[in-house]
Amino acid sequence: MDYINIIFTVDDAIATITVNRPDRLNALNPQTMEEIGHCIDVIRSDQTIRCVIITGAGEKAFIAGADITSMVTMSGFEEKVFAERGLGVLRAFEQLRIPVIAAVNGYALGGGTELALACDLILAADTARFGLPEIKLGIIPGFGGTQRLPRRVGLLRAREMIYTGDMIDAATAFSYGLVNHVYPAASLMQEARSLAAKIARQAPLGILQAKAAINAGIEMDLDSGLRFETEAVGLAFSTDDKKEGMTAFLEKRDPKFRGE
Ligand code: CAA
Repeated sequence: MDYINIIFTVDDAIATITVNRPDRLNALNPQTMEEIGHCIDVIRSDQTIRCVIITGAGEKAFIAGADITSMVTMSGFEEKVFAERGLGVLRAFEQLRIPVIAAVNGYALGGGTELALACDLILAADTARFGLPEIKLGIIPGFGGTQRLPRRVGLLRAREMIYTGDMIDAATAFSYGLVNHVYPAASLMQEARSLAAKIARQAPLGILQAKAAINAGIEMDLDSGLRFETEAVGLAFSTDDKKEGMTAFLEKRDPKFRGE
């Protein structure tokens, strides 16, 4: 697929998706969602990729939401198709076997905050702004915001953000537990790459099992989650990487994980 609205690169086992519509503040139109969806398919079928970073082009925005210009003319049916595609793409990020880092370099509004919420980790520039302003457009969040935001920041904070549509700054997002770290805007991508590289060096099948256990367990009661973890750790124990990791520790050297 030829990409028009995104830039997709793979370097040193790290895939980077840059939404590239800076004149529209990287708003997500149907074409952009198709392109991101295609990238996920490519990433899923490439075992050499160990971590993904998603960010926005330019200095102003990560993603300023779904593209209002596209949505204003959509019929109810077209909107349903668009929302289902958006939900599917975000769910695909969550269900990738490898971690996804959102590097939020500016406005993350509506679908932008919702996409970040579907990522494993969120790093924010000190210039970042988060919000679900859909209520101001007469609608409500449609890419999972009413479900993922309360799970992440708690009911009271999520209700206030969704009912008012107000934005929060990066420091507030950090205090809400919505982002992992806040960095000066100029160093955000360097920090994101450094974190991605650290994850990429770990045992791939261990990362896969850890991600599966965390994502499944958060929706389960504790006993079910603990049973899931026991199965996952059993699978991790059956890998060559477990032998390599423990042997390397005892031999006082760095492990060389191969994902086997
Ligand atoms: N869709 C389409 N175009 C957008 C856009 C969006 N979500 N966000 C910004 N743009 C466009 C603006 O219309 C403007 O275009 P023109 O130059 O042609 O006028 C350009 O990007 C630059 O934006 P502004 O001039 O508005 O920049 P600003 O600095 O004054 O304001 C902003 C920045 C506060 C982010 C403002 O652009 C804004 O409020 N954008 C809309 C945010 C929004 O409501 N997002 C939610 C969308 S709905 C959604 O996401 C549904 C869902 O759940 C999936």
